[in-house]
Amino acid sequence: MFYDVKDQLTQLIDRFCNSRGLPVGKVEFRSIPFSGEWGIAAPLFPLAAADPDKTLPVPKKAQALAEVLKDQVADLPGFSRVEAVRGYLNLYFEPRQYAERVVSAVLKAGEAFGTREKQGKQVMVEYSNPNTHKPLHVGHLRNVILGGSVCNILEASGKKVIRANYIGDIGLHVIKWMCNYETFHQGEQPGKDIMRWMADLYAESDRRFADDPDFQAQVRAYFGRWDAGDAQIHALWEKTRGWSMQGFQQVYELLGEHFDRIYFESDVEESGKVLVEGLIQSGLAEDGRPENPVIIDLDKKLGTKEEYRVAVILRSDGTSLYATKEIPLAIMKFEEYDLDQSIYVIDVRQSLHMKQMSKVLELMGYPWAGKIRHLAYEIVNLPGNVTMSSRDGTVVLLDDLIREATQRALEVVREKNPSLDPEVMQDVAEKVALGAIKYPMVARENTKIVTFDWDSALDFNGQSAPYIQYAVVRANSILRRFNQPVPSEAAFGHEMLPVEVNLIEKISQLPDVILKAAAEFKPSLIATYAFELAQVFNDFYTQCPVLSAEGSARLSRVLLVKAAKIALENGLSTLGIQSPQVM
Ligand code: ARG
Repeated sequence: MFYDVKDQLTQLIDRFCNSRGLPVGKVEFRSIPFSGEWGIAAPLFPLAAADPDKTLPVPKKAQALAEVLKDQVADLPGFSRVEAVRGYLNLYFEPRQYAERVVSAVLKAGEAFGTREKQGKQVMVEYSNPNTHKPLHVGHLRNVILGGSVCNILEASGKKVIRANYIGDIGLHVIKWMCNYETFHQGEQPGKDIMRWMADLYAESDRRFADDPDFQAQVRAYFGRWDAGDAQIHALWEKTRGWSMQGFQQVYELLGEHFDRIYFESDVEESGKVLVEGLIQSGLAEDGRPENPVIIDLDKKLGTKEEYRVAVILRSDGTSLYATKEIPLAIMKFEEYDLDQSIYVIDVRQSLHMKQMSKVLELMGYPWAGKIRHLAYEIVNLPGNVTMSSRDGTVVLLDDLIREATQRALEVVREKNPSLDPEVMQDVAEKVALGAIKYPMVARENTKIVTFDWDSALDFNGQSAPYIQYAVVRANSILRRFNQPVPSEAAFGHEMLPVEVNLIEKISQLPDVILKAAAEFKPSLIATYAFELAQVFNDFYTQCPVLSAEGSARLSRVLLVKAAKIALENGLSTLGIQSPQVM
């Protein structure tokens, strides 16, 4: 359904409610599935139940309200009939007019079809969050794809989005890397493949640290110098952190990701320690030092049982922890931006930590604490259910994965269409490859484990990005053969086939699917929608004549093909997936 129709109806109903002293926002429309005609329906029970006047039982009241509203909306243009039945207000569209309306609206909006104008306050989405001096590897894939897609979807739904990235730039891993570099690789520089180089040195330092007690001692001494504020180490840290950031940037570019605000852990370490002192003073935190850490016993404070447990906010030796930095980070975000919501894309194992942190911020008296939301997601398994980990040294770097995907996609595309120009073929392969990697990351519900394997990711006949991309290419080939500019006003005078009706119905759902996906932070809804749309389009493609159709049906169907192509492309683009035009 269309935002303009919905807005118009909502305004009318709001006015009605205001004039009667009824609460607004209780009436919601949903689509009536096609059965000879299209329509939308609103149940009036919630409004009836909210009416302070209780002289009628709710169902009777709902019916009475439906009848009054029926007269009020009767004059709105575009509806063929309106009815009030059993507490519902049903509005029906004249089928051909509706088809025209859907197709024209899609063609006019083009890339903007399904998206809403910006409204309301900003939302911050924190995602990716890698640690410097370590690589971005396959274990980071779902986070960055999911986070990026959630941002696209929120933006499409009309939110202003700030894409934030919280980088782990301090800690033992950084010290190990630098100590190893200074001792064994002094003066070396990264080449073109920064990420690989940083990763290899990280693995080397990690191995050495595990195997060599002398090196361990050396690292500890190095840490001591760092803590004491050694200027030379600090300079090396800035330089090497810069290399890491460059390496990340290369991968983000490959993936089509960008960030508006970068936070570093080093920005919030000192302020975190100061905040902990304040928490001890206010009595919220218990200082167990020097034997024990500083903690907040949340269950004790709140009288809950094994719900929030104990948050450890500073080590017994006074050094900072994950949680030490979380508190100032949250404060910084809300001081800097006027946020409606602050979303954290972090894996599901951090759920207790995030729950504790929101609670601590609430107890500290921050009114925005309730606007923090942990968007939890599950891990990705490689075939054979191997968890991808960064510790065992067998990590697949993200750029390697993308390269492999491109190679595989190239083979498939070459087989499909050997006559493609090599440059075009390369471009197509890159889009197919990224689609193949991204789609499985968003197609599963966030909190279900993804199993990634090449065969299904690149399966042109299964639920995959290439299958959807191929539908775009088919649509495009019809438009190319039509070989004339496509007007943006559609006229549907012909008798529509069921496959056409289904296609129109499916196309019209995109705006609602985007709104729902945004409200629930679920790209999977769009992933499923785009696949279903591609299926419905393929049925249309194989069963409904377009260029060979007679009379006015020919142009109408060409327009419908273009509308389908737009809906497919826009759906994919909210998932961060581009559509090739040929294959
Ligand atoms: N950099 C951390 C890690 O790699 C993740 C940070 C998540 N974000 C946060 N605000 N806690 O484990």
